[in-house]
Amino acid sequence: MKDKLSKIKQAASLELEAAANLETLENIRIKYLGKKGELTAVLKGMGALSAEERPQIGALANEIRTYIEQELDNKKSQISKELTRQRLEKEVIDVTMPGKKQPTGSLHPLTKVLDNIKDIAVGMGFEIAEGPEVELDYYNFEALNIPKNHPARDTQDTFYVSDNVVLRTQTSPMQIRVMENKKPPIRIIAPGRVYRSDAVDATHSPVFHQIEGLVVDKGITMADLKGTLEAFIKSLYGQNSKIRFRPHHFPFTEPSAEVDIACFVCGGEGCRVCKGEGWIEILGCGMVHPKVLKTCGIDPEVYSGFAFGFGLERITMGRYDIDDLRLFFENDVRFLKQF
Ligand code: DAH
Repeated sequence: MKDKLSKIKQAASLELEAAANLETLENIRIKYLGKKGELTAVLKGMGALSAEERPQIGALANEIRTYIEQELDNKKSQISKELTRQRLEKEVIDVTMPGKKQPTGSLHPLTKVLDNIKDIAVGMGFEIAEGPEVELDYYNFEALNIPKNHPARDTQDTFYVSDNVVLRTQTSPMQIRVMENKKPPIRIIAPGRVYRSDAVDATHSPVFHQIEGLVVDKGITMADLKGTLEAFIKSLYGQNSKIRFRPHHFPFTEPSAEVDIACFVCGGEGCRVCKGEGWIEILGCGMVHPKVLKTCGIDPEVYSGFAFGFGLERITMGRYDIDDLRLFFENDVRFLKQF
């Protein structure tokens, strides 16, 4: 019996020595100390021993059990430590590794040009005004001297929300809103979205942007209009740019004009961009119609003013040599990230 016990100890000791993972350790425990284990079997067979042998063998068996239990514990903590070490080694962070670059966004070209325009205007003493895109017919047309059935309404294919509510077709209604709320002197620009029921193509979109300008004070003349717009356009297009004023008609200004800039591609000789004209139309303007001033409660005998309006897309296309309006609204990042 003693022999058998010392063989068990020896065998267990070898197996424990060789064990390399927690699973093997558990198998060893079951093999020797489990319900059907080898050492358990010996202890179970003690009843068959003589009275002298029993305490000796019992003590020896217990000693071996303690030995195996302790060795299992030792080996277990040894293996756990090793596993932790291996895990930490794998998880180590190399702070000298190059980082992953996050793609950065950029401002939309329309935003960039608008910011530029706002800067120039603010530098010239203008304030920025904003107003609703869903607008009353009164502000969009009526108060601007465009009564019902006026032919100017046909040129602005209007989205009607209801009989007297429209999506604004121009930023000019902001002239009325500002004059109703502010006494002269007035110097504002009003940028914003406008809507027209146009089919989409390279130069048309049902939504686009305009920037309205309005100056009202005592003694404002056509010379102020010309001087201000010339300074404005030169800040925007460069000091060498050439412009011309051409007579035109708008119901809310009298006299009215359109301003052309010498083509920034060919310099005036005529090319594809200016369609051979040498000039590109960039804005509409004029002296605020006395009727419009009166409608807003401003006495046209005391005050006068000028107004202008231009399209942001047109200017941005010229600035960046973009030949298709649709690019602004499709939000293709390959296009947008070039700015
Ligand atoms: N609202 C006009 C349009 O959309 C542009 C315009 C012309 C605005 C003359 C003005 C102006 O303020 O004086 O076609």
